[in-house]
Amino acid sequence: MRILRWCLLFVLMTNCLQAQDRKEFLLEKNWQFTQGDPSGAMGTAFDDKNWKTVSVPHDWAIYGPFDRSNDLQEVAVKQNGETAASTKTGRTGGLPYVGIGWYRNHFDVPAGTTVSLLFDGAMSEARVYVNGKEACFWPNGYNSFSVDVTPYLNADGKNNLVAVRLENKPQSSRWYSGAGLYRNVHVITTGRAHVPVWGTYITTPFVSDAYAAVNLKTSIDNTGDADVKVITEILDAKGVRVVSKENVQKVTHGKPFEQNFIVNQPALWSPESPDLYTARSVIYINGVQTDTYTTRFGIRDIRFIADKGFFLNGKLRKFQGVCNHHDLGPLGAAVNTAALRYQLTLLKEMGCDAIRTSHNMPAPELVTLCNEMGFMMMIEPFDEWDIAKCENGYHRFFAEWAEKDMVNMLRHYRNDPSVVLWSIGNEVPTQCSPDGYKVASFLQDICHREDPTRPVTCGMDQVSCVLSNGFAAMLDLPGFNYRVHRYGEAYGKLPQNLVLGTETSSTVSSRSVYKFPVVRKADAKYTDHQSSSYDFEYCSWSNLPDEDLAMAEDNEWSIGQFVWTGFDYLGEPSPYDVEGWPNHSSMFGIIDLASIPKDRYYLYRSVWNKKSPTLHVLPHWTWPGREGQETPVFAYSSYPSAELFINGKSYGKRFKNDSSTQNRYRLMWMNAVYEPGEVKVVAYDEKGKAAAEQVVRTAGKAHHIVLETNKEVVTADGKDLVYIRVKIVDKDGNVCPADQRLVSISVSGAGTYRAAANGDPTSLDLFHLPRMHAFNGEFTAIVQSKEQAGNITIEALARGLAAGKVVLKSGF
Ligand code: GAL
Repeated sequence: MRILRWCLLFVLMTNCLQAQDRKEFLLEKNWQFTQGDPSGAMGTAFDDKNWKTVSVPHDWAIYGPFDRSNDLQEVAVKQNGETAASTKTGRTGGLPYVGIGWYRNHFDVPAGTTVSLLFDGAMSEARVYVNGKEACFWPNGYNSFSVDVTPYLNADGKNNLVAVRLENKPQSSRWYSGAGLYRNVHVITTGRAHVPVWGTYITTPFVSDAYAAVNLKTSIDNTGDADVKVITEILDAKGVRVVSKENVQKVTHGKPFEQNFIVNQPALWSPESPDLYTARSVIYINGVQTDTYTTRFGIRDIRFIADKGFFLNGKLRKFQGVCNHHDLGPLGAAVNTAALRYQLTLLKEMGCDAIRTSHNMPAPELVTLCNEMGFMMMIEPFDEWDIAKCENGYHRFFAEWAEKDMVNMLRHYRNDPSVVLWSIGNEVPTQCSPDGYKVASFLQDICHREDPTRPVTCGMDQVSCVLSNGFAAMLDLPGFNYRVHRYGEAYGKLPQNLVLGTETSSTVSSRSVYKFPVVRKADAKYTDHQSSSYDFEYCSWSNLPDEDLAMAEDNEWSIGQFVWTGFDYLGEPSPYDVEGWPNHSSMFGIIDLASIPKDRYYLYRSVWNKKSPTLHVLPHWTWPGREGQETPVFAYSSYPSAELFINGKSYGKRFKNDSSTQNRYRLMWMNAVYEPGEVKVVAYDEKGKAAAEQVVRTAGKAHHIVLETNKEVVTADGKDLVYIRVKIVDKDGNVCPADQRLVSISVSGAGTYRAAANGDPTSLDLFHLPRMHAFNGEFTAIVQSKEQAGNITIEALARGLAAGKVVLKSGF
């Protein structure tokens, strides 16, 4: 009896006799959702049957409708040099993200287990209730957070109610934030003695080709003063064990359990060889297994050497990066792995090797994909510290929450080999406060405490302030947003002797829109609310891609850049942000909102992609009415020279040269004259030999629809997506670049229509309806698999055209 009582007591502290395994599942289906704030919605007796049933990830605002009055903002954007307030339309996408929403669901767990809920992100100001009791509040809508809900569970573990209240205040963002439970919700059950969420920290203190030292620290909760045994195996990418250790320690001192390993001939992680390892740990208390925990990691060495640059595994490289917001265009903020994978595939093909998660914590799926596909990451938590950019922005929470948010972000992602830099903020107004460096050093110190292995930077735009007030000098690595012409000065004045372009370019363009005459222009605006794809237009604070490319190539201390942005995003429709409705999405993207590359994609590709050559010719060649007029032709090419022929007539050879940064990266025939027919560009290699050619033809009358898919086989998991490029073409297959007609999409079989986008920043077509206007002859439709195998048939119909059809296979 005494033994039993002792055991019962002990069971509360550790697992006495019973082995308990970790289980984790997602709460995806059967959420009940409503907008508004019904009283008592957290309670178990509340009747939610009239609410809508939705699946999570879910973005309540992406279904529209678009409206000028959605989150109108009367502001002066100081970062853009504005001194007087003006009415910003479409700043947050013109979508109804503002308001309150509730989600409710039920879950079962084994009785007597320890249970945590992990939210990958909830937009925003989340209040989580379990069985009617408030379990936690987490204001930052982008951060992941977890809560131990064991005290609130039903005794039998069954039918536990989780209710989440979310609230988005107006003027809380500078871009489309999305709304709702837009990332995954995990239920994690363990024994009482267990590794908490993000409870391991792996570092590789020594890395060489011959061997690497690996250090693993494992936090284990509720061990009491028992002997703790941890057996850890390190597995390579094929799942083969390369080393293992069994250690016994007490963790009464409160420090994590520590183990060290040597991995011989390690496969080093890099963007070109994204090899990963797994540490699989089994935890025993007094001989009884209480938890298992796996940590994925990579072995790689990063060094930032003053005056010499950034080295990965001993090799010099420059960041060929892009900044991205978190939305997935027509899918909104609702995270989807297939969509992220498609984005990264396009970026990889361009030669991009790095992503900045501007200006917030990413979805974990993105970090996992960057580990697996090979992208370096700069993760950034904040757009605001203590001083406001948005009336209802994060500054309201900064004092109380900044450290908690930093700790969650750092512990979540410090084992990921893709992450090579932390950025503590973006263009924070605090950078110009006399005491601003104190806030920066508070945040930098948290990074150093939680992860001493990566340097810390900050995206700074107020160059004069930060060079004179000590702010830039105290960072591990100075990062500048724009002002490329001042990098040299910063290099000279600052002690780090390295400069990173944390945010560059902000060139604006609309896919397949070309404006004449072709001249460099800041803040150019047109009656059609588009920007020219000759890539000569930028904002008052920004510049053209060529300047940043040259900066990195010419200076050892310039360690590369993160272009604003890889993809167009919802919101911030500069230069049509002031009373510019219906513009409601960005024009900065190298790739448009429909995931279709703009011309600029090939400019970057021509410099960044060293694996395969680039030759891309612009503009399109269908210009009725321009006959006889100057219509410049550009080629973006990795070859040093090329010759232009129009209907067989040579316009001469162009050679890349240093007479201007544009002439260095672009081959331009400014004197080309339009006549219908054929434009041919022949590129020549270093020896002057013809190496590639591209032909662009004048399109005839629109004739039929072509559907091009990014894959032929889809996974029947109810989540996989296929991207279909819908093209309106003439009888010979040339895209008709003036065609803007409405096309309907029908999907049958083992898939469902998910969304479409055309990349037109002024388009008010709703993404989720199965019809879309073409924008300059094209748009993208997205189809999602069902949880059933079979064929998916997709058809596109439009008045006056032969229909397009494609059949795909969906399987397990
Ligand atoms: C930067 C800012 C970005 C975006 C960009 C547009 O100043 O950091 O978030 O607003 O300008 O050019």
